[in-house]
Amino acid sequence: MRPESNGDRVANTSRPLTCIDLFSGCGGFSLGLQWAGLECRAAIDFDSAAIETFQANHPHVPLALSRDLTQFRPEHLDKLLGDEKIDVIVGGPPCQGFSHARQVDGANHGDRLVHDPRRELYREFLRYVKYYQPRVFIMENVPGLRTAAGGEFFTRVQVESRELGYRIIPYEIEAWRFGVPQKRIRQLIIGARRELPLFIPAKYIRHTHDNLGKDGLNGLQPIVTLGEAIGDLPAIAAGDEQFERKYDKRARKTHVARYGSRYTNDVLKAESAATLTGHVARPHNDRDLRDFARLREGENSREAIARGECMEFPYDRENFKDRFTRQHRDELCSTIVAHLKKDGLMFIHPTQQRSLTPREAARIQSFPDTFVLPASRTPAFSQIGNAVPPLVGKAVGLGIAEYFNAAIESDRMAPNLSVKLPKGRSSAIKQLEKFVESLYLRPISTLASNEFLSAWWAVGFLHPNLHPDAALENGHELSLGPKRGVSFVLEPVFVRSGWPVELIPVAKEARRRFDSGEISEDEYYCSAAVMAGALTQKACAV
Ligand SMILES: C[S@@+](CC[C@H](N)C(=O)[O-])C[C@H]1O[C@@H](n2cnc3c(N)ncnc32)[C@H](O)[C@@H]1O
Repeated sequence: MRPESNGDRVANTSRPLTCIDLFSGCGGFSLGLQWAGLECRAAIDFDSAAIETFQANHPHVPLALSRDLTQFRPEHLDKLLGDEKIDVIVGGPPCQGFSHARQVDGANHGDRLVHDPRRELYREFLRYVKYYQPRVFIMENVPGLRTAAGGEFFTRVQVESRELGYRIIPYEIEAWRFGVPQKRIRQLIIGARRELPLFIPAKYIRHTHDNLGKDGLNGLQPIVTLGEAIGDLPAIAAGDEQFERKYDKRARKTHVARYGSRYTNDVLKAESAATLTGHVARPHNDRDLRDFARLREGENSREAIARGECMEFPYDRENFKDRFTRQHRDELCSTIVAHLKKDGLMFIHPTQQRSLTPREAARIQSFPDTFVLPASRTPAFSQIGNAVPPLVGKAVGLGIAEYFNAAIESDRMAPNLSVKLPKGRSSAIKQLEKFVESLYLRPISTLASNEFLSAWWAVGFLHPNLHPDAALENGHELSLGPKRGVSFVLEPVFVRSGWPVELIPVAKEARRRFDSGEISEDEYYCSAAVMAGALTQKACAV
């Protein structure tokens, strides 16, 4: 069976791109990649319930394996997969060890760093990258990854990926910009083989929806609100556990008349689902139900107390003030998390006296109603809360496909440059040494565009392994290479980003000029210079 597609933009590569999904969960990421036209060859997760859900929803994926990735090595997978070429590896090594929640108890800080073996799982991911050498890999994690343990893990992931031959681009992705009705932000670490052109996240992973009105619409669609995502579902009471029920088709008609069909039918495929499943509400005690009723739409218990409401909940008033939150129909929902399996108190329905159901959580994550959910609430919330929203996966998949097409094109096209590139590494070093020394006498911001670009492209030529987007988040740790006495435009480097310390002002100025529109995207990312530098390095290495 060929995978079903979703939406208008589809990948246009000469053959379908293949991928492996590690730590796949129920397959939110895989579903989005499939919508973008990629073909998943294998998914691995040690949670057998998640793999069951994966299999039920991805019947065309030949291998969905319930295995522990600390034991199951790429060589084992290879025996099952045969010598299939893998273009992309994606995966979400568990994020609990990095998340902000652990920082509350100090577990991710300095001396109080608590050993958490889950943090090492990125190594298992990189083991597969090393073995399969995909052109691109995408690691998904919580934003806490950047700061956990003073940024140590963020550094390690980048250093170890670079050692495997990948140019690394950290990229924070905001789910609502892709039509997901949720405030979810996640950290992507994108690795692209260093012999390929630069992957430019902002160019390839294209926003489809606006940025909460901050930038204006700019030809994009308005964000999808919580009301648009779940407003057509039948009203149910807390404790109503009926797994399968009929849709209220009249309510859907009114809903679509109000919001249009872009989410209800185009994304959720509500029309294709015969019955509504997983719309089951957990029971709440009478005290909680009375407290729910005290909350206005969009309000949390802290705000209700400030307004003069007397909440009955017995929890410590200081630490748990905002324990209850009623979501708002006209806004984005709070980030859907696996914790929903424990309680739903931060996810109270906008108008009903109950917390959200697994089907509502799935809709808020952009899973279609045709997606088969586990019958039991706990694994359903856990799998849905852990997932990459399929619409985000789709945007990433389309971005990768577009990037591969652009990489093929750039091979065919002669670079069209307004200033000359250095002839070789030693002339690039000389040019940059002179340039950096001259900055003691004249402010870099006053330089004419041609002079600045000539230096900036020499940077790209000399350091084709680095990505400009990684130059501004370096940490403090410095490293010297094995040979002493090399040029100051080569080292010392910041361990995290790999960027030479002396070149950071040049990178900062390039970013400033790009952000202010003084130089174009092509001039900033200087792919032609980077590719020429990579070729020269390769020739030197032979
Ligand atoms: C954040 S979730 C991934 C969600 C997935 N990317 C999606 O879009 O649905 C992380 C997953 O890692 C799995 N996991 C944790 N440790 C593992 C291990 N040692 N081997 C295999 N899977 C593991 C968990 O069961 C969980 O499903």
